[in-house]
Amino acid sequence: MYALEADQLSKSFTADNRTVDVLKQISLQIPEGAFHAIMGPSGSGKSTLLNLLAGLLPADAGTVTVAGQTLNGLSDQALTLLRRRTVGIIFQDFNLIPTLTVSENIALPALLDGHPLPQARLEKLLHLVGLSHRADQPAEKLSGGEAQRTAIARAFAMEPRIILADEPTGNLDSPSANTFCATLTRLNKELGTAILLISHDAQVAAAAETVHVLKDGVIRGSFASEHNATAVAARYLELMA
Ligand SMILES: Nc1ncnc2c1ncn2[C@@H]1O[C@H](COP(=O)(O)OP(=O)(O)OP(=O)(O)O)[C@@H](O)[C@H]1O
Ligand SMILES: [Mg+2]
Repeated sequence: MYALEADQLSKSFTADNRTVDVLKQISLQIPEGAFHAIMGPSGSGKSTLLNLLAGLLPADAGTVTVAGQTLNGLSDQALTLLRRRTVGIIFQDFNLIPTLTVSENIALPALLDGHPLPQARLEKLLHLVGLSHRADQPAEKLSGGEAQRTAIARAFAMEPRIILADEPTGNLDSPSANTFCATLTRLNKELGTAILLISHDAQVAAAAETVHVLKDGVIRGSFASEHNATAVAARYLELMA
C-alpha cells in the first residue's frame, strides 16, 4: 500500500474569463516511509497539487488516496479528521500559535483530537528536533529555524502516515534550512513516516530520495536524488529544457 497515491489529478482555475489548466492528469505514488520531493518553477502548480493531496482543495478530476482512504466525496468533517490524524502539514510560515510554548504547540493537534499527547512522545519529539532546551519557550520568542523545527514536531505528533511540506525552508537562512533538512531526514528514518516536500531549492530537495519535476501541469520526470544537490540541480535544469 502507498502512504499517498494520486491518480490522474486535474485542476483548472478560471479568472477574468480565462481558464488555466494548472494540473493535467497528474499521477504520483509515495510508498510507505519514503521521502520524495517535488521541484518546479514558480506558478507550476506545486502548492495547488499539495492542497489537492491534503484535501484542502477539491480536484476537478482524478483521485487522491491517503493510507488507503480515498478523499473523493469525504465530508469536510472527515477531511478535517484526516488532516489531524493521518496527514501532517508543514507550512512555509510555520503557522505556530505565538503565545503557546513549543511543547503546547506540539501537543495541540492531540488536544484538539480530545487526547492529551503522551509525555513520553512529546519528549521524544522534542529530542528528535533538538528543542528539549526550548520546550517552555513561547513560540513568538523562537528563531525561524527553531520555529520550523517546532512545526516539524507538531506535524509528526499524531503519528501521521505522511507529511506534506510546502516550501518549508522558504523563510529560513541556509544554515537553518540545512538543519531543517537533517531533522526531517532523522524523523523520516526513525519514525518511518512518509514525506512529500515541495521546494525549488536543489539543496533542500536533495534531502529526499526521489525528486519529481513539475512543469506546465505535468510531471516532466522523476529521478533518484542520490542526496547530491549539484546532480539534482543539473537533472532539474535538463527536465526544464
Ligand atoms: N485560487 C486560485 N484562483 C485562480 N488561480 C489560481 C488559484 N490558485 C492558484 N492559481 C494559479 O495557478 C497557478 C499555480 O499556482 P501555485 O500556487 O500552485 O504555484 P506554485 O508552483 O506553488 O508557485 P510558487 O513556487 O510561486 O509557490 C498559478 O498560475 C496561479 O496563479
Ligand atoms: Mg507555492
